[in-house]
Parts: sequence; structure tokens; C-alpha cells
Amino acid sequence: MRPRVSLCCLPTPCHSLGRLGHLLGLDLWVKRDDLTGFAGGGNKGRKLEFLIAEAVDQGATHVVTCGSSQSNFVRQLGAACSVFGLGCTAVVMDLPYDSGHGKPVGRFPQALGNLVLDDLFGVKRVLVPDDDWDVLFARTEAVARELTACSEKVYDVPIGGSSPLGAFSFTLAAEEVGDSWDFIVTPTSSGSTHAGLAWAFHGSRTRVVGVACDPEEDLRSELVRLAAGVDALTGCQKAMSDDEFELRTDYFGAGYNVWSHAGNDAIELLAKTEGLLLDPVYSSKAFACLLDLARNGELFGKVLFWHTGGLPTLLAATGESL
Ligand SMILES: Cc1ncc(COP(=O)(O)O)c(C=O)c1O
Repeated sequence: MRPRVSLCCLPTPCHSLGRLGHLLGLDLWVKRDDLTGFAGGGNKGRKLEFLIAEAVDQGATHVVTCGSSQSNFVRQLGAACSVFGLGCTAVVMDLPYDSGHGKPVGRFPQALGNLVLDDLFGVKRVLVPDDDWDVLFARTEAVARELTACSEKVYDVPIGGSSPLGAFSFTLAAEEVGDSWDFIVTPTSSGSTHAGLAWAFHGSRTRVVGVACDPEEDLRSELVRLAAGVDALTGCQKAMSDDEFELRTDYFGAGYNVWSHAGNDAIELLAKTEGLLLDPVYSSKAFACLLDLARNGELFGKVLFWHTGGLPTLLAATGESL
């Protein structure tokens, strides 16, 4: 048994989206990881149950991570650190980007939403001017070194909690939904949600479709690395190769953290047909993909949308954002 702390209310609900499913000709369901029940909900609570346990086991006094300033992970990590008496520093940019793709232009969340909750949980944010992801990672390592030099015992958490341990938590999540699905659709960004689910359903009839929320060139190799890490953690060798991950890379719009038209349309459709709230950075873009795949016949049968949360970012919308 791996060390684990209890943060979430599990299993999360899983229910039919009958009205929308009928319109799309699908047996459509949703897995409500937006309702994990810790610090406003979302997929990160599952990863944190293992990551925080490891930090505590290692005698850490301070946790350091990085992300965007509206990061849902930072919010949930901050709460977990607060509960377990650990310091929490997050090195953030408003719009980190991939140099190859350039800085995205468009609507992005304002200084509300997660930022309000980060303050509530006592997260120390180090805001760095927008730049390439590698600059953010380098700055995060420097901040961790500074804290270590000040006698803190630092536990580094990769962006989005995407270590093999984070992915492992989603192999357990998969057990909550059984194996009767033709498709599972989920947003993917730092990769451990997608990698864990794909690992769990590998070799079954269920196809796990990850919808990339940023134009990260190396996301596919990240998925392979994370799945290999789960092999190592579990001793169960699946040796997944990159062509075994279904990854859609046509729905991130202008780029990471920027709202997209297709995503905004999905937010409105789900809100009005099902009363279900999607977020503008991840779940809405994944749902936009689900809608297109259903309409063009690539998605059929019993379909599960894995809702990963992110509601605070929707609440950071200004009048012209949606
Ligand atoms: C609401 C939400 N959905 C999906 C994701 C993507 O999950 P992962 O980082 O495991 O790929 C994130 C990550 O930040 C998120 O906050």
C-alpha cells in the first residue's frame, strides 16, 4: 500500500447526461471529478492524496511548484499544504507558453477566481513575467534552492502534480467507473490524468481520448514517461508506446489559458441543457472536441466525459470573456 492521505470524497458521482446525450445520439455520462470535495473540487485532489503523503513521509516543511497564475492545481495544493502544516510556494506566470508556438493572444482569466482562493489557503505566489515554460521551470528550481538555503526541507511537485504518483492516482480512479465504456474523453495538459486513465484501460475495449489544452510539443512523450512510471510503481509492465495514446491536438485554440470560441460554446450548451458548469481552460475545450467527434460519427455508443473541475476560473470571467 502506498502512503496516502485522505482529502477527497470518493468515489465521485457518475451520472447520465440524458438530455444532451439524446441530442447527440450517444449514451452520454459524466464522471464528476469537479466534485472531489476538497478545496473547491477538481482532478488534482486525487493526485494530492499521494503527493502530500510522500511529502509528509519525507519530512518536508515546504512544497514548491509552478503553473499559471490561475492554476487549479496550485489552489488545491495550497489547501492540502495548509491542512498538513506545510509551507507552499508557487512560481507562476499569467500566460506561460511554448516558444515554438509563441505567446497566445486572446481572452484569459482575470485576477479573480483561483487567486482569491490561493490567498485564502496561504499560498505564496512568485509572479514571473510571461515567458517560455522552460524559463518558468528554471525559476522554480531557483526558488526551491533559495528555500533550501533558508533551511526549509523542500518537496518539489512537478507542474499539475504530474509525476508517476499523480498518474497512479488515476489508475485507481478508473476502478470507480468500471469497464463498460466505448470512450472516455478527458482534458489533458500536464498529462497524468490522461496517462493514468489510459494505463488503466490499456488492453480493454475502452478508448481513452485526451484533448490537449495547450500546444505542448512533448505532451505525447510525457504520457509515455508517466505511464512507464506507473509500470515501475505497480510492477505491472504495460510498456505503452506513444501511438497507444489517443491525443487530440486541435482544440486548444489560441493557446494555453486562453479561452476559445468552441470551448465557450460548449460551456453555454452544457450550462443550458444540463445545468453543468465547465471551465474555460480545460474541460470546455475537451467537451468541444467531444461534441465535434459525436457530430461527425467518430464517437459512438457509451461515452464518459471525465469532468476535471476548474470552476473558479469560470468565475474569473469578465463581462467580455464569454
Ligand atoms: C480543471 C483542470 N482540468 C484538467 C487539467 C489537466 O489535467 P492534467 O494536468 O492531469 O493533464 C487541469 C490541470 O491543471 C485542470 O486544472
